[in-house]
Amino acid sequence: MNTLDPRQRLAVAATSLRSSLEQYQAAGIQVLPAATRAAAADAPDTEVAAGHGEAGAAVNLPRLREILGDCRRCRLSQGRTRIVYGVGNPDADVLFVGEGPGRDEDLQGEPFVGRAGQLLTDIITKGMKLRREDVYIANVVKCRPPQNRDPEPDEVASCEPFLIRQIELVKPRVIIALGKFAAQTLVRSAAPISRLRGQWHDYHGIRLMPTFHPAYLLRNPGDKRLVWEDIKSVLRELGTVAE
Ligand code: URA
Repeated sequence: MNTLDPRQRLAVAATSLRSSLEQYQAAGIQVLPAATRAAAADAPDTEVAAGHGEAGAAVNLPRLREILGDCRRCRLSQGRTRIVYGVGNPDADVLFVGEGPGRDEDLQGEPFVGRAGQLLTDIITKGMKLRREDVYIANVVKCRPPQNRDPEPDEVASCEPFLIRQIELVKPRVIIALGKFAAQTLVRSAAPISRLRGQWHDYHGIRLMPTFHPAYLLRNPGDKRLVWEDIKSVLRELGTVAE
């Protein structure tokens, strides 16, 4: 899972290093011996694995939620009401990934329950002829960013191991990345969503289809037809007939 770009790798390493140093401090250790300092400075390569390692130890989704705990791994925890972990079928064929909780999700602790969420539910039920409980829904970050700003790279780096493990545990056949932020994060691309959408991408061996975010569709309903094209591609991939 070591496909982070240099900026993201640095953010992961910095977060992980800070967390290690905080643990030393909590244990009453104020000064590190030279060898430990050298090992800590060497951390970047191993810390990506270690960051995932904590989440990677989870054998199922409830256990992963326990490991996430009352998360304080990044500053987004300071402004959140509730952690929005993820919801749905642990064996889903389709896993949706959004950006991060909005106001409604922050209050209710469930992804996509506001107006954009209602539109996503329509896409699932009316478009895909599935129930919301049939799919799995998660976000890149699990706490609401202040004023719904984009999550910062270090916040993504702290949270992403949990999304990666959610994906590994659900093992969906298809991931649908909702909107620019989720698509660019998962695909590791700076290309605009208008270019990413409608094309299949590979996410560590899983087919990934980016499409427009439901919140964008609320503002630009004319682009719903493009999302329907993307959903039809997904249904074809799943072997489900779409007219
Ligand atoms: N937007 C997102 O990206 N995720 C949610 O859970 C809600 C709105």
